[in-house]
Amino acid sequence: MRKLFIAGNWKMNKTISEAVELVNSLKREVVDIESVDIVVCPVFTALSEVADLVIDSNIGLGAQNVYWEEVGAFTGEVSPKMLKDAGCKYVIIGHSERRKYFGETNETVLKKIKAVQSAGLSPIVCVGETLDEREQKKTIEVIEKQLKDGLKEIKDDNLEDIIIAYEPVWAIGTGKTATPEQAEEIHKFIRGWIKENYSSDISEEIRIIYGGSVKSSNAKDLMSQPDIDGALVGGASLESQLFVELIKNSL
Ligand code: 13P
Repeated sequence: MRKLFIAGNWKMNKTISEAVELVNSLKREVVDIESVDIVVCPVFTALSEVADLVIDSNIGLGAQNVYWEEVGAFTGEVSPKMLKDAGCKYVIIGHSERRKYFGETNETVLKKIKAVQSAGLSPIVCVGETLDEREQKKTIEVIEKQLKDGLKEIKDDNLEDIIIAYEPVWAIGTGKTATPEQAEEIHKFIRGWIKENYSSDISEEIRIIYGGSVKSSNAKDLMSQPDIDGALVGGASLESQLFVELIKNSL
């Protein structure tokens, strides 16, 4: 039985004080929830403060990006070791916004996964097709390539530790969620691909979460699909009440 995994990707939102306020409220509201791995991914500047607040709680901490080198002359970048030092357990890698605006590719995704795992962090690896690709019926082809190239040298033992997030680009921030059936079709494909390329056991264990306009009203329908094990939430994770409702409606 795979434990539900629900992460809030705050993107470029919240000052330190706003982050603290949100997490304090979230902590109170979810204190009794044990059946879900709850994670928040604030901006870099708020990581340490949030880490102090969640340290003994049922909320995990993730970062939204990372660089693959450990230290050195890489102005503006942050290494896996530094994220671990700040209290992170997870890192989002390959989000479509990073692919679109910051030149992230399947090759950099692979480098980041390896670096993050060497530092003892768990990657949340994002895949997903654009609207154009969907309309051209290339969804499976695109996802397969993202998996094949992004996970190219990742061995069985390391795959178990990865969370895959299927985020159709056309559903992100648009209010246009994939239907539970559309999402399930791709999640099932991803699980099948893992079975074929790794093993049946790993495919049963790995968590594949959905992202793209998830909110409290659609969370249950999405997460009751057999291959959807949680959600990566943008907008609806920015207000404690909305995120809490979404989590509770997913149970
Ligand atoms: P929204 O929930 O705002 O659509 O964002 C999804 C997302 O990109 C999470 O990583």
